[in-house]
Amino acid sequence: MSIPQDKIEQVRLASDIVDVVSGYLTLQKRGKNFFGLCPFHNEKTPSFSVNPELQIFHCFGCGAGGNVFTFVMRMERLTFPETVRLLAKSAGILLPEEHEDASSLQEKEALYFANKLADEFFQKNLQQALEAEAARHYLQRRSLTPQACSTYGIGYSLNKWDGLLTYAAEKSLNTDILFKAGLVLKKESGDFYDRFRGRITFAIKNLSNQVIAFGARRIVEDKSPKYINSPETDVYQKRDVLYGLQLSREAVRQKSQVVIVEGYTDFIALHQAGITHVVATAGTSMTDEHARLLRRYTSNAIILYDSDSAGAAASLRGADILLTNGFDVRICLLPPGQDPDSFIRKNGLAAVQKSLAAAELLLDYRIRTLEEKGLLRTPSQKAESTRDLLASVAKIADPIQKAYVVRDLSDKLKMEEAVLWTEVRKLERRSRLQVKQEETDTSAIGGDFFASKRGAAELGLLEVSLSAPEMVSTIISALRPDELLHPELRDIFQKIELDHLEGISFDPQKYIVLVQDPFIAKRLSQMLHRKKKLITNPSRFCFDCLNAINIARLDKRIEDLRKRLQSDKEHARSLLIEYLDLVAERKRLGQIDLALE
Ligand code: UTP
Ligand code: MN
Repeated sequence: MSIPQDKIEQVRLASDIVDVVSGYLTLQKRGKNFFGLCPFHNEKTPSFSVNPELQIFHCFGCGAGGNVFTFVMRMERLTFPETVRLLAKSAGILLPEEHEDASSLQEKEALYFANKLADEFFQKNLQQALEAEAARHYLQRRSLTPQACSTYGIGYSLNKWDGLLTYAAEKSLNTDILFKAGLVLKKESGDFYDRFRGRITFAIKNLSNQVIAFGARRIVEDKSPKYINSPETDVYQKRDVLYGLQLSREAVRQKSQVVIVEGYTDFIALHQAGITHVVATAGTSMTDEHARLLRRYTSNAIILYDSDSAGAAASLRGADILLTNGFDVRICLLPPGQDPDSFIRKNGLAAVQKSLAAAELLLDYRIRTLEEKGLLRTPSQKAESTRDLLASVAKIADPIQKAYVVRDLSDKLKMEEAVLWTEVRKLERRSRLQVKQEETDTSAIGGDFFASKRGAAELGLLEVSLSAPEMVSTIISALRPDELLHPELRDIFQKIELDHLEGISFDPQKYIVLVQDPFIAKRLSQMLHRKKKLITNPSRFCFDCLNAINIARLDKRIEDLRKRLQSDKEHARSLLIEYLDLVAERKRLGQIDLALE
């Protein structure tokens, strides 16, 4: 099924070319246009320009040009429909999936419509309804002006059973749709009634600025829950949605940092005070999906929670998820009983900024709290606490980041790196038993394996280990031997790793005798018989090899995903998210690669 023209147009409008291009290269503003180094040809001075007004790009060097679609098509080597889907996904626009028939698509549109209608109704109530006087007072006390209410989509649900029901009926919206949108509930008798009654409502929006759900706060202290939220629907999955991201993503990207808070009101308080790079998890705990979504905009996160024990525990769970998704995580805990909203009102913007600037690195925070609890005193306590810390470290996906973290931890705990690595590897093995193993595709090992970048890099790692053994610890900390494709190199590195972990000194001869492959043997003997060292800058060489292997592994996964995306329509949604993450990661690694060249 082809994508309808109006949808394509909607995607184009939602995908600002400056935004999209900035994801791939650094742009600088000059006059009305932005300039950068052309990604389509090699150049040293920027002749690639982007015109935000016309939403086009043009390279004065190589003549490449087009709109946001053609740019992404060329960058990602995608077909037109694939490109539209990719951009639609990041703009949060729903496209007809091949497996999705028109009726289910219409149903989603209907859910958006119902939520939009409810949003209008709630906002109008807040502004006009007589009975909303208490709500208006309440909001005023919380320094939420009418202006702020309309900016953030705050409204009021009338305190009766059929407020929204009646309004929707007047607008001829089918009650069934209201029910599916979670806005009304059904009695056993089959009659419907409003879900939100007599509450302040907070509209929850997706990245295309469409209302998809509500959170609703009571305004009187009674026994009912403080907040009632929309249930999950076809357009609202809690694990995918971060409150306020549609307002803050640009600031998050520009600051290259995100401040994560818990509540709707915390988000609003910070955002309106000018701390605009903020999102709220709003009642659910942080998920992998949240982390991957944020990872498109930044890799630096500060968790800003109140320090009561629930808040601290939640922040740690969230922190772990962010950590494993490649974030540098900092923790900023406010005094007990104070959340960001109350803190900023009591102490002012400067105080919040000061706290944020002093936010502690996750590991420092965890070590400090362990110390404070007296859990680092005896050797056995120390061992247990360390293992606890390492359990999070083992989950870090990026091997280079992981290596840095382990080094850091070794400094801070004054413990040998090798000891920490032994434990990390153990924990990794354990978790790998649970997760399905990345398939090692030995079919790639053809006759010209060593002519490929990946093959050259794998062999390069052995060469550099033999000629500069001080690099061994870097290598084994960045890569597990079973991640090597070549079976012989894998065996050799397994041996090298074991010896290293057991503290056995490095003896090149011992590993050379394991070599059977004639090509490897020839290269090694050539190298070892030279008088001077072959590799002039081992640590740079090593880094390049590791990076090349990472890139090759990512490319393979991207390729596999691309194939699966074509056939597995049922999981298209989650596959696409994964795909985008990998593409972003690939971009990052590619830039390191270029930076070194
Ligand atoms: P908090 O209890 O910290 O509320 O819950 P808050 O945001 O500070 O609200 P105010 O300041 O008292 O108005 C944090 C978040 O957890 C969710 C909401 O998203 C809330 O913003 N929550 C809380 C619920 O979903 N239900 C509840 O009953 C309570
Ligand atoms: Mn609060």
